[in-house]
Amino acid sequence: MKKILILNGPNLNRLGKREPHIYGSETLDDVKNSLELLANQIGCKIDFKQSNHEGDIVDSIHNAEDEEYDGLIINPGAFTHYSYAIRDAIASVSYPTVEVHISNVHARELFRHHSVVSPVTVGQIVGLGTKGYKLALLSLVKEDI
Ligand code: DQA
Repeated sequence: MKKILILNGPNLNRLGKREPHIYGSETLDDVKNSLELLANQIGCKIDFKQSNHEGDIVDSIHNAEDEEYDGLIINPGAFTHYSYAIRDAIASVSYPTVEVHISNVHARELFRHHSVVSPVTVGQIVGLGTKGYKLALLSLVKEDI
């Protein structure tokens, strides 16, 4: 059974309360629950984490290699736009990473248009709300989708 790690970066613990006109009313727990449901349906195991600290996210990416995860789904939050440390951590591991953004970053402020992480991911899903996490999970687990 495939094992997928899902990492959420800074301020995503505020989902549901934080700028709901941009990020919607679902909480991060709601997202976790609906991903666990999907994981059961498609027969994979997920671990879901959130951290406001860059180093914690780097450590989780490294540890996932030792713990033999088959893939990573990451929403790095604002780190997306400037964290070379997270970018290098993703480049340092052998499993595939899919980048997810809830909002359409390209329709927002200029600083959100650029991701330093994208070049080392297999793909990026943006602007589809929390559904993006589900699509990322399907793409990592179901090769024939
Ligand atoms: C985000 C977009 C980022 O620009 C922002 O800093 C976030 C959330 C998204 O999911 O739309 O924290 O990654």
